Amino acid sequence: MTTTPTNPAPQPKLLPLVQDGNRHGSRSYLTCLFKCGNACDHPIPNTSDNPEFKDVIASAIGRRAVVRGAAIGAGALVVSVGGAGSLAAAAVEAAAPAAAKGGPLASSKFSPVAPNRRDAVVLADGFDHNVIISAGDAVLAGAPAFDINNLTVDGLKRVFGWNNDYVGVFPHPKNKARALMTVNHEYDDTAVMYPAGRYTQAQLAEFGIYWHGMSVVEIERGRVPGSWYQVPVGKTTYNRRINADTTFKLTGPAAGHALVQTTADPTGASVKGTFNNCAGGMTPWGTILSGEENFNQYFNTDGDVPAGPQLASGQTLTNAYTRYGIAKSAGDPRKWHTVDDRFDLAAEPNEPHRFGWIVELDPFAKSSTPVKHTMLGRFKHEGANVVVAKNGNVVAYSGDDERGDYIYKLVSAGKFDPKGVVGGNEKARKKNMTLLDKGTLYVAKLTGNDADQSAPTAPYDGSVEWIPLCSDTTSFVEGMTVAEVLVFTRQAADLVGPTKMDRPEDVEVNPVNKKLYVALTNNSNRGTAALPVNEANPVGSSMVRTSPVSAPTSASGNRNGYVLEITPAGGDHTKPTATWDLMLVCGIPDAPETYFAGFDKTKVSAISCPDNLAFDSQGNLWISTDGMPGTLGGNDALYRVPVSGASRGQVQAFLTVPKGAECCGPLVYDKDQSVFFAPQHPGEVSGATFEAPASTWPHTHDFPIPSVCVAYRQR
Ligand code: FEO
Ligand code: CA
Ligand code: CA
Ligand code: CA
Repeated sequence: MTTTPTNPAPQPKLLPLVQDGNRHGSRSYLTCLFKCGNACDHPIPNTSDNPEFKDVIASAIGRRAVVRGAAIGAGALVVSVGGAGSLAAAAVEAAAPAAAKGGPLASSKFSPVAPNRRDAVVLADGFDHNVIISAGDAVLAGAPAFDINNLTVDGLKRVFGWNNDYVGVFPHPKNKARALMTVNHEYDDTAVMYPAGRYTQAQLAEFGIYWHGMSVVEIERGRVPGSWYQVPVGKTTYNRRINADTTFKLTGPAAGHALVQTTADPTGASVKGTFNNCAGGMTPWGTILSGEENFNQYFNTDGDVPAGPQLASGQTLTNAYTRYGIAKSAGDPRKWHTVDDRFDLAAEPNEPHRFGWIVELDPFAKSSTPVKHTMLGRFKHEGANVVVAKNGNVVAYSGDDERGDYIYKLVSAGKFDPKGVVGGNEKARKKNMTLLDKGTLYVAKLTGNDADQSAPTAPYDGSVEWIPLCSDTTSFVEGMTVAEVLVFTRQAADLVGPTKMDRPEDVEVNPVNKKLYVALTNNSNRGTAALPVNEANPVGSSMVRTSPVSAPTSASGNRNGYVLEITPAGGDHTKPTATWDLMLVCGIPDAPETYFAGFDKTKVSAISCPDNLAFDSQGNLWISTDGMPGTLGGNDALYRVPVSGASRGQVQAFLTVPKGAECCGPLVYDKDQSVFFAPQHPGEVSGATFEAPASTWPHTHDFPIPSVCVAYRQR
């Protein structure tokens, strides 16, 4: 194949669909082990023969082609796209506004941060940041001073938890200088958190249980505009620590069902705690939605794993556990089942059915009981985000973050009451909080577009069909009741033919153009043998894999992920159909398979493993990553990407996070020029230990501590 830029012949676009050798691709061994229980080491739990999205795109490759970009960088290929996102169309739209000192972040010009491996937060020139709160900092009165050598369970109940992920911030209803920040604490990491030999296995299990959960922390503006700091614990009445003792009410059609009943809760109505909360969303009525993601890894047994439950249909779900990755595991680094029976599958076979939900928390009411919404289905929820549709119904989107699993949406039965917001009518607000209890749950089927088969400039696009699974009263899946569909949502979905996706992470509607954006982080799995215990496998897990990640190549498999853009039919999110296009194919820009919505590839930042999404006031997409170091070499980052106008697809790195961390959180407080972000698992690098850390960020101790930060313009 030549690269002569003249008289180009159409060439098939090479998407990174085929993974080469390394099963985990981009994450460190430690992150894989502790964050998701080495999900990539296990067989893909979806054994259905439903179509895979990579094949949907592959079929498009046969019909579509690329034109070689004469005006683009040497040897680079570019896809010319039609439709609203095309460069031609963009030319008649206004370009992004010029930088204005003090103007909103959405229109600020900045030079992208270069890839780096620094043990620091590195921001675009002209911006600064501060740490708001770190793991171990006081959230409640009576919290002990953080001392990693002298932890107690009682102390952990009062401090900010480990490994901050989602960050949601609501303005204070009465005090403009303050806001309420809610943060998820996704997981603990015993390999790097503690001095070797300091604690027993039972202590580590108990500490781990209480490092998880969520925190509500009141914050106040700092002296520099855009900066925020924690309100001293003695000066706030809002702070709250959601932990393993917090009671959650199960709501929706599966609440009370036999499948969610346990010895401690024979009514199946309330659950203690929430675990592995990853991403989330803020509702228009002022609550936080939070996704229970890799909950499966906390359940284990030294006995026999019980047989699957009998369904009302008479069908035995032999794969009730395995479809969710729940299994007896010798490689379990936590062993929570040894300190609490409810994590023991043999003792409490229904306890795992009480996790894997979307939880909803009212951060404004400290004594309120948070809920687990069964109507949103049970799977490895990355998070959930809601949008109010034109007719007032609420639509909640959620991705099941597993290789080969699905994208879902719930369309509420009831309508959003605009009076029911923070500072509005509290009765109406309470009613809005029940919107996600009734409605219809759908799963997405994506097909390629057969139109314009020969058009060399056609984008990758196609159609979305939302297949109903159940309403709150009726099951649409043969042989399963409503409650069974909601408790075993993966199995129900398997039966109706949705499309297997490459680990859907954040699924969120752009508040400006009302399109839905989906981060598909990667699908980095092709199996190799397990690794014996050695210095590269300090935790002694039989599950830790062998191969270090390879040098990045232009054909490095579907390791870099992509971002889908979904346009609901008629702009109506309640409708059962939509269209999709592939907006970004991530990777090193000059790799032939990458695609940046048609933007000049010589002028974008490298990006890999898109995870969390956010939007600013102009609808620019902000993307944070989880997995850059293993694929593209640099630390994980936060990017801004316009989705319309001449700059559509211009991916620019706004900041990078410290060594070993992924960038969680992002939330753009545009008017205030604040960008909240949460470096999670700093120093979680293969081979690192507490004594030999890979990071000491944020440099308050001689070991790394996950922390929530805010970025703002320098003054
Ligand atoms: Fe916790 Fe899907 O990442
Ligand atoms: Ca995530
Ligand atoms: Ca988000
Ligand atoms: Ca992730």
